[in-house]
Amino acid sequence: MAKLIIANWKTFLGEKESLTLARKILSWQKSFIKKEIVICPSFPVITAIKKKIGKVIKIGGQNVATEEAGALTGEVAAKMLADVGCDYVIIGHSERRRLFGETEAIIKKKLAIVLKNKIVPVLCVGETAVERKNKKTISVLKKQLEVLQDLSFKKIIIAYEPVWAVGSDHTPTDEEIAQAHLAIRTQFGKKSGLKIIYGGSVDENNISAILATPAVDGVLVGRASTKEDFWKKIKNLNC
Ligand code: PGA
Repeated sequence: MAKLIIANWKTFLGEKESLTLARKILSWQKSFIKKEIVICPSFPVITAIKKKIGKVIKIGGQNVATEEAGALTGEVAAKMLADVGCDYVIIGHSERRRLFGETEAIIKKKLAIVLKNKIVPVLCVGETAVERKNKKTISVLKKQLEVLQDLSFKKIIIAYEPVWAVGSDHTPTDEEIAQAHLAIRTQFGKKSGLKIIYGGSVDENNISAILATPAVDGVLVGRASTKEDFWKKIKNLNC
């Protein structure tokens, strides 16, 4: 099964930089066409990126509103994402939980609305450094995954992203990644539409080892995915 590579460009690239990188990726399209790649650009450039490389890669949103529509200044609704060609959306990212007060209730609402609009959710879960130190990793993951109860989904991505590994240059050991992924897998059984990917300081140097880790179906990459070197590596990767 092809490994899934999701690039989260966060707020790193403006229009010009996003298009320059997209152009580069397009010039290597032969190497990307058989890979499963999703790019989540910033909202203002989604349409431009989709137009440029939408035939080669899939596009995702980095966030979504909790409601279908209405007086929600600054928000982007699931249907709007679907309209501009987003097949995926990131939900419950640790930056959203930590910096924007996203609670489990909010995350659950977002999941429901996204599924209704036939967009695949990329649900991020992961423990803090203190929780890991106190050996709470597995119980934290179980608790965070409770948002999926009562939701029916054909396809979903769960991104295991330890909070302390995101944007930090620190990654868990391969064994720690495998343990977390197996715990998540065990909770769901063998669901064909479920992929479990790892995120947190993945880059061109560690991606091969992480993708080779048992139970890892792919990666969610932030900062590194905004650089040409990362795509050069992906281009030559057998994944
Ligand atoms: P990072 O971010 O690769 O910059 O650590 C990952 C993420 O936030 O999804």
